[in-house]
Amino acid sequence: MADSPYPELKKSHVPERVGRPWSDHKPPPSAPVWAVIGGLGSFHVLVAGLELGVFDALSDRGANPGIPPELTAAELADELGLSAPHLEALLDSLAVLGLLERVSGRYGLNDTAARYLTTDGPASMASLVPVAPGPLDNWSHLADTIRAGRPAHPIEDNPADFYRPLVEGTFTTMLRAATRADLQLRYSAMAGPRVLDLGAGGAPWAIAILKACPEATAVINDLDGVIEIAHRTTTEYGVANRCNFRPGNFHTIEIEPECYDIAVLGHICRTEGPEGAQHLIARAHEALRPEGRLLLADYFVAPEPQWSPHSVLMGMTMMASTVRGFPITAAQTANWLKDAGFKALRLIEPIGHQYAYTATKPKGTP
Ligand SMILES: C[S@@+](CC[C@H](N)C(=O)[O-])C[C@H]1O[C@@H](n2cnc3c(N)ncnc32)[C@H](O)[C@@H]1O
Repeated sequence: MADSPYPELKKSHVPERVGRPWSDHKPPPSAPVWAVIGGLGSFHVLVAGLELGVFDALSDRGANPGIPPELTAAELADELGLSAPHLEALLDSLAVLGLLERVSGRYGLNDTAARYLTTDGPASMASLVPVAPGPLDNWSHLADTIRAGRPAHPIEDNPADFYRPLVEGTFTTMLRAATRADLQLRYSAMAGPRVLDLGAGGAPWAIAILKACPEATAVINDLDGVIEIAHRTTTEYGVANRCNFRPGNFHTIEIEPECYDIAVLGHICRTEGPEGAQHLIARAHEALRPEGRLLLADYFVAPEPQWSPHSVLMGMTMMASTVRGFPITAAQTANWLKDAGFKALRLIEPIGHQYAYTATKPKGTP
């Protein structure tokens, strides 16, 4: 039964039904709707703060070394050459979003900003923020994508242009996840593992393993135009001389069978659709020697999607901008791994919100 939008005309809350006057009935808050409307502005407020160098300017050492400066909007506008009233509105917005501290009209970094939003922060996301949602134009056409079953301008049309800045932006986070994963996986106890890293980006997983195992070697794959980033990062981390770079499509490049101790599929399955993801898992299985291990990192949707909002929205981001991308569930991934012949499945969370399945190819499987 459709009820009236006007409280005084509602049939569902008349005293006969609920035992108290309709005026006692409190309608639900509109806050969740406003939070979504504000999402677009909030994103651009943060992107503008990063682009204008607000966080870096506030983290530069001032008169008191070690104490981040706290400046007024006018002082900061002067330093950055910006319009003071406009900057003040931006700084107040960052403060209400919990991304800056504001005390008595002076602004400073809070712990979140210092860690994640300064260029040199220990877990900097400064270069990730602008590219994380994918091409922004695709979001404006989401309804069309859902009508048509594919985006008008998918990332696949020009993957290198999209992935280059993305993997630059995700590198620090993924390297932390890959390094911390050793606490659960103990790859550092392996003598000289051979690693296969498909769609490696900046190769955070291969680098973490090569740093921990001085005898380890790695085959690193990515597309032409992206693999150059892995050349640079592996050189910076002093492991490039133990890497063999294999540019090309991970579905078709040549891979030696039964050769590797660790195969990595890091955040590449959710863009490939079920068939593509299963093909990559099968390729990893074939590449591993018996007792070799697969690491499959992704954002897995929980049995009830509401339990994993981050994963649901990351999957949605894929769907908005790729031809085959979808949210992938933990159960679906586990079934793919078992169907491919993997055993001893484990789901680990090396750092918050970063998950990886590990699975072993049993002895006696081709
Ligand atoms: C989300 S990034 C993940 C990078 C890295 N594995 C990580 O975990 O941080 C996806 C990577 O897959 C690469 N990629 C996408 N399609 C590919 C393909 N068909 N063949 C090889 N690499 C591909 C992209 O260039 C990008 O570097």
